[in-house]
Amino acid sequence: MTMISIGAQGEDIVACDNLVRIYSLADVEVVALQGLDLRIRVGEMVAIVGASGSGKSTLLNILGGLDTPTAGRVVVNGLDLARLSGAERARYRRRTVGMVWQQTSRNLLPHIDVISNVELPMILDCRPNRQQRAEDLLELVGLSDRAQRKPHNLSGGEQQRVAIAVALANEPSVLLADEPTGELDSATSADVFELLRRINREIGTTIVAVTHDPLVAEHVSRTVAIRDGRTSTETVRRTERSGAGDHRVVAEEFAVLDRAGRLQLPRAHIEKLALSDRVRLRLEDDHVGVWPGEPTQANDPTRTQLDQGDPGEGDR
Ligand SMILES: Nc1ncnc2c1ncn2[C@@H]1O[C@H](COP(=O)(O)OP(=O)(O)O)[C@@H](O)[C@H]1O
Ligand SMILES: [Mg+2]
Repeated sequence: MTMISIGAQGEDIVACDNLVRIYSLADVEVVALQGLDLRIRVGEMVAIVGASGSGKSTLLNILGGLDTPTAGRVVVNGLDLARLSGAERARYRRRTVGMVWQQTSRNLLPHIDVISNVELPMILDCRPNRQQRAEDLLELVGLSDRAQRKPHNLSGGEQQRVAIAVALANEPSVLLADEPTGELDSATSADVFELLRRINREIGTTIVAVTHDPLVAEHVSRTVAIRDGRTSTETVRRTERSGAGDHRVVAEEFAVLDRAGRLQLPRAHIEKLALSDRVRLRLEDDHVGVWPGEPTQANDPTRTQLDQGDPGEGDR
């Protein structure tokens, strides 16, 4: 990706290069990811958005070490996931990443209490001082008074807060959340995302969260949109100081250009200009113009070129 050039390569905690994931079913192949590129820097909080079926969960499962891509490379925290042995992969899933799922039931064991749920990953990782750390984590997510309850005695929002504490138990480098508020009402959802933002700010954990909620996407510094198994656009937000001294958030949308030079035009642009199959490109001093393949306007600059038999045209 070239648009997001902030920071050096070495600071990327997540680097996905040309990820492809094809599910082979009995009589059909489903291409869930088709050459996805994504880079995330240490300490970023990134929202992933996209229509249902666009490949968001497939990406998170790969980042979480639960699934392997059909092709392409994924490096997280310096580890090339394809090169991990079975034991290394198990350790990666225990330590390097923490995961929060949409289904509250998938995040917590129902028959043990909240604090035991938070301690469990630490037991599996043979960590010392588990109880103290579990208490600290429950305090962090604001649920110290729920420690002895079973998950089903908590509200949906509280269950997701516990799930976040569980995911943080072994101090992961990256917290992955797949629609963590998908089953919650909007007010509770906003609280859970505010918690994620606070964790990102205060602990510095890199967070990648899939969400459908456009309001959430507005509160993170970067939103990556996935379309048809590829990163299509990125919205980068930064705070600017106005002349009067107050701050305002400026959002700028970029198309993602991969290393092979491919980019996806936004669907609205395609429809507005009725672009299909082939388009004309023209290189200007500081930009590239895109025109419909069939000239529609008399002042179409590429048409003049063609009509005049522009010699450069034959090279394309
Ligand atoms: N285990 C699977 N077997 C077959 N196809 C799958 C499987 N998981 C996902 N898919 C397909 O891959 C595509 C992407 O799915 P997914 O990553 O779940 O999208 P999203 O999370 O954005 O809704 C969809 O077409 C989906 O039907
Ligand atoms: Mg999904």
